[in-house]
Amino acid sequence: MSENILIENPSNGVRLIRINRPDKLNALNEAALKEIASALNAAESDDSVRAVVVTGDARAFAAGADVSEMQGKSSVEMHSSKRPSYWETIRKFPKPLIAAVSGWCLGGGNELAMCADMIIASETARFGQPETNLAIMPGAGGTQRLTRAVGKAVTMEMVLAGRSLTAYEALILGLVNRVVPVELYLEKALELAALVASKAPLAIRQAKESVQKSFELPLEESLAVERTNYLLLFGSEDKDEGVAAFLEKRAPAWKGK
Ligand code: COA
Repeated sequence: MSENILIENPSNGVRLIRINRPDKLNALNEAALKEIASALNAAESDDSVRAVVVTGDARAFAAGADVSEMQGKSSVEMHSSKRPSYWETIRKFPKPLIAAVSGWCLGGGNELAMCADMIIASETARFGQPETNLAIMPGAGGTQRLTRAVGKAVTMEMVLAGRSLTAYEALILGLVNRVVPVELYLEKALELAALVASKAPLAIRQAKESVQKSFELPLEESLAVERTNYLLLFGSEDKDEGVAAFLEKRAPAWKGK
């Protein structure tokens, strides 16, 4: 049973995870993170799911880790927390993950959005890593992913000075894919997910892994991963179908094999 998230299947191949703590601006308590991780595990092992959208509500995607869970916690207690294992599940999710972001997207919320492969933002979205205001710092990839996404200078200002980005600043800086009116952010994210879900699943999975490796490995090694994944796809039935369908001028029928 999920108490902090809602799970829906809005269209063929697409699963939607809504963080559902509106009274707390969808702050990510440990239970919510655990539920998101298990929803992603379930989505991974369900062949009918080809893309996942994670969202909050119009006021907040998520306003950070739940600060109330930090009170009185020592380093040792935080070290034995299961949170890092939930984050590992999220960041290693192998299927396409899209974040539909409106309103506050702060701290752990921004770290969650940055684990997604693409971000659709509403005009009201605000992105920030304000942890230093609490005399702590980002601990789930904020300093690393943000730097890769928007560069050192902007990351330093966000992390050290607590500055948040508007949706259009985030767009110009390459943190998000698209900015749309608030009424449309979820619809557009679901449309994008449906488009990705309509493509050959093995190709999408190998391509996602290859792009991710560009952030994790030296170029020579990530090029080798790309080449291996490329060659692997030549052994798939879907590759024969995709090429044949193109040459026969018909729509392909994917098997996911
Ligand atoms: N953890 C726990 N509760 C949070 C929270 C968080 N990260 N962010 C918001 N909330 C709670 C508030 O405590 C409040 O609960 P209450 O009604 O029981 O008092 C509720 O959500 C609404 O927040 P509120 O602060 O009243 O809304 P606001 O519109 O005035 O301000 C923010 C919005 C985002 C500026 C403000 O909530 C905020 O600064 N949140 C913390 C952001 C943060 O530091 N994140 C990183 C945490 S490591």
